[in-house]
Amino acid sequence: MIDELEALRAEALEAVSGAPAQAELRDLEVKYLGKKGALTAILKGMGKLSAEERPTVGALANQVREALKGAIEGRRADLEAAAIEALCADPHFDASLPGPSPSAGSLHPVTTITEHIEDVFRAMGFYLLDYPEVEDDAHNFEGLNIPADHPARDMQDTFWLQDGHLLRTHTSPGQIRAMAEFAPPFRAIFPGRVFRYERLDASHEHTFHQVEGIMIDRDISVANLIHSMKTLLGAIFEREVTIRLRPGFFPFVEPGFELDIQCQVCAGEGCSVCKGSGWVELLPCGLIHPNVLRYGGLDPEEWSGWAFGLGLSRLVMMKYQIEDIRHLMGGDLRFNAQFRAG
Ligand code: DAH
Repeated sequence: MIDELEALRAEALEAVSGAPAQAELRDLEVKYLGKKGALTAILKGMGKLSAEERPTVGALANQVREALKGAIEGRRADLEAAAIEALCADPHFDASLPGPSPSAGSLHPVTTITEHIEDVFRAMGFYLLDYPEVEDDAHNFEGLNIPADHPARDMQDTFWLQDGHLLRTHTSPGQIRAMAEFAPPFRAIFPGRVFRYERLDASHEHTFHQVEGIMIDRDISVANLIHSMKTLLGAIFEREVTIRLRPGFFPFVEPGFELDIQCQVCAGEGCSVCKGSGWVELLPCGLIHPNVLRYGGLDPEEWSGWAFGLGLSRLVMMKYQIEDIRHLMGGDLRFNAQFRAG
């Protein structure tokens, strides 16, 4: 066995020192030192040796292994150095050129717009609140004046959880939470994700973003509401946008309105975002229904308020002229990279 080991050492060292490239070197490493390699094969005979022979042979086997490992390492370093040298010798290689720069991340456009809106509202004295995405029936429907048999529930196909909770279908449940949490007068916004069991197309997603806003005070009127909504849209778009107001029905406001803005993608011509109408429903709003105030623990004789629910996903699509809502949650980095600053 001693002879066999010596022979293996001599053969392997020669082969390693002559290995022409990294690939061959890796093959040799496997051939001699691998689990099924030559050294292991020899060592399988150890069992047949006498107790006196075994330590000597074992020590030699270790020496051979270490010598081979060292030789392979050395040859690997030599080959690498030679490769770099060859590269530098190439007349086309310019070592002074900058290397590839690491790609920088960027904020998602929904995040950018949300932060902008938060700034606008904070400057106007609004609280910025964060409420749960998993809601109960009481906050998502019942407390918002949408009882179990109310047809408005059909408008919002809901993801129900097995324990009776649900994924909030809008940010409006925050209205009740805010009323229960703060003493009036106060004003607050609560942006976040909402979920609907939708058939997906260019303007429908199962997960999208809204920001809800409320203002509670004495003697809030429709005039207050319209003025606030105009100020808000002016600040968000940083210019004047063409709007129209239509009566709209939502059980939790009375009166309720649909505030539309002229489609920014097609400038009112008609496209897939506005479904050919030239207008996009952007800002449903209204005066908070007395039942909702009552549910929030406020006396409607004393307190009044307005509320709005802004479709953030729609807003982003308007602002950046995105023709398909599915891009927003699609997770394609090529889409996100287009919004990189600078
Ligand atoms: N929560 C409604 C929805 O998602 C939108 C809405 C309408 C919110 C009127 C409001 C409002 O605050 O006043 O469809």
